[in-house]
Amino acid sequence: RVLKRSASDRMADPPVSTHSMAAEGPVAAPSPGLVAAMDGIAEAMDRQFDLLLPVPEDPRRRLFEAMRHATIGGGKRLRPLLVTASCALFHVDTEAALRVATAIECIHVHSLVHDDLPAMDNDDLRRGKPTVHKAFDEATAILAGDSLHALAFELLADEATHSDPFVRCELVLELARASGPDGMAGGQMMDLEAEHRTYDLQTVTRLQQLKTGALIGFCIEAGAIMGRLPPEGRAPLRGYARDIGLAFQIADDILDVEGSEEVAGKALGKDAGQGKATFLSVLGIERAKLQSRALVDQAIAHLGHFGSEADLLRQIARFTIERDK
Ligand code: IPE
Ligand code: IPE
Ligand code: MG
Ligand code: MG
Ligand code: MG
Repeated sequence: RVLKRSASDRMADPPVSTHSMAAEGPVAAPSPGLVAAMDGIAEAMDRQFDLLLPVPEDPRRRLFEAMRHATIGGGKRLRPLLVTASCALFHVDTEAALRVATAIECIHVHSLVHDDLPAMDNDDLRRGKPTVHKAFDEATAILAGDSLHALAFELLADEATHSDPFVRCELVLELARASGPDGMAGGQMMDLEAEHRTYDLQTVTRLQQLKTGALIGFCIEAGAIMGRLPPEGRAPLRGYARDIGLAFQIADDILDVEGSEEVAGKALGKDAGQGKATFLSVLGIERAKLQSRALVDQAIAHLGHFGSEADLLRQIARFTIERDK
């Protein structure tokens, strides 16, 4: 049973009706609390990767340097922040939560390194720096991505992450599902296939849920797993994760059209030319914006039975679309 993949779990429901969309409102600056939390997690991630990736004096040196290039400095660290915010709801030990946060960032960075390769999006700039295959070479970028993928599971499976092997196993299982063919990798395949076909709204929604939503879903689920919340109590958190995952990718697609390359630290204005299937390509930019706002409102509504302990998750939900990078 454990090995059975539940593809249908991650299938698309169409997003909320475009007829009940939120009114257009001003984009607010992030709250001081959110800024402090983001600064804190950024610092923690840089420290974790620095400690995890000392450069050896042997022929693997180049591989470690590439992994450090990819992981240290830059990035919003949204997924690690979601992990620590979700873990905090259940009073999970901070160091243990940071290990899970590092694991998901490993998978995310692995996905970025490979996403940027010439065989995929062929990008030269990431997080304001040359992409790994530009700073090093393609073979090194492939291996750095592979190594980060492995490191993620090593971190989760280690006893330091949780004393209970069943908890560790559940983390490993969920991250494997979220990053494989029923998750991120499957979404990336759909993304590439879009070049040769046209997707309807439901298919684009599924693409985005797999490509981006599954890993974001893991971040929130991880807090519940570490905090031993029984699966039947997880529905509101899953609803929250699903909605912010979609909103986040819509915002990424809007940034591709409206953003500044300098601020975003990556090449923009490429999706349409590369035949990417996005909410923008199906709905147009104005309806996509309304959709993303409705999704954020809906995400926050899912947290209704939590008190102020979920305020950080509420702020993160708003941030997913109120951002310029
Ligand atoms: C970019 O993710 C790729 C997507 C899934 C949209 P982020 O926008 O979180 O990238 P970083 O981590 O901040 O660089
Ligand atoms: C990348 O999506 C998603 C993953 C890496 C899984 P995009 O191709 O839209 O991300 P950017 O715009 O290059 O960051
Ligand atoms: Mg891509
Ligand atoms: Mg890309
Ligand atoms: Mg993009």
